Amino acid sequence: MKNTILSAKGLCKSFAHNGGQIHILSHVDFELYEGDFTVIMGASGSGKSTLLYALSGMDRATAGQVMYNGSDLVTMSEKGLAKLRHTDFGFIFQQMHLVSNLTLFENIAVPGYLNKDKSSSEVKERAEKLMEQMSISHIKTHLPSQVSGGEQQRCAIARAVINSPKLLFADEPTGALNRKNTTEVLNLLTELNQSGQSILMVTHDMRAALRANRILYIEDGKIIGELPLPPYNPDEEKSRETQVNAWLSSMEW
Ligand SMILES: Nc1ncnc2c1ncn2[C@@H]1O[C@H](COP(=O)(O)OP(=O)(O)OP(=O)(O)O)[C@@H](O)[C@H]1O
Ligand SMILES: [Mg+2]
Repeated sequence: MKNTILSAKGLCKSFAHNGGQIHILSHVDFELYEGDFTVIMGASGSGKSTLLYALSGMDRATAGQVMYNGSDLVTMSEKGLAKLRHTDFGFIFQQMHLVSNLTLFENIAVPGYLNKDKSSSEVKERAEKLMEQMSISHIKTHLPSQVSGGEQQRCAIARAVINSPKLLFADEPTGALNRKNTTEVLNLLTELNQSGQSILMVTHDMRAALRANRILYIEDGKIIGELPLPPYNPDEEKSRETQVNAWLSSMEW
């Protein structure tokens, strides 16, 4: 029996537009489980990023509940949300949003230094270890502009997990990467998940989706399908791809 880490109930999100309202998410209900690698797929404009932002406290839903650790993110104060985003959640985006005038090491360590629970030597040690895991130790003093897109994304992943988040959110983390860098980033995410990291990732990329043990499909702001999968195993990638492809076809992807 898996533990629920986050749950959405009747989640709605509308935007004011041209004097009216556009409804993007309509009554989304689902639970995320601890230790899972959950993927959200769906057509462009279906509301994937909007859902990810509402679930992670980056944006606030218009109605409904997002329960995390006994609190509702929809009604939580801005200060409470900011703290949660800092201490409990990690974020990875398609555009890495690294700070251009900080070195890779500094980009990773800064959110750790801002976390008052850890001493600076503990942060430094964890940053060094993560850089090793992400194979970017040799370029630790480089600026983001001096490294490749794949290296920047590996740095962004290390930054996202420096405070050991309970839940890692990723929106198209491989969207700007070539094939080789995509594989490296996916291997890192798989490794993190295998060591217990809960992940929620939005993706268009079939190869990224194959890493999940649960895929949710969203259409017009509603979750219309769910595919549970065994944990990722590279030896079974072909048959997994066939299964996921067939399921996505049934969702009219
Ligand atoms: N601030 C906003 N104001 C008005 N409409 C918005 C706003 N943000 C998003 N939308 C609309 O909401 C819909 C869903 O957007 P969202 O970014 O969640 O889609 P997505 O599924 O992530 O798409 P993609 O795969 O292209 O990233 C889109 O039609 C978008 O135009
Ligand atoms: Mg999006």
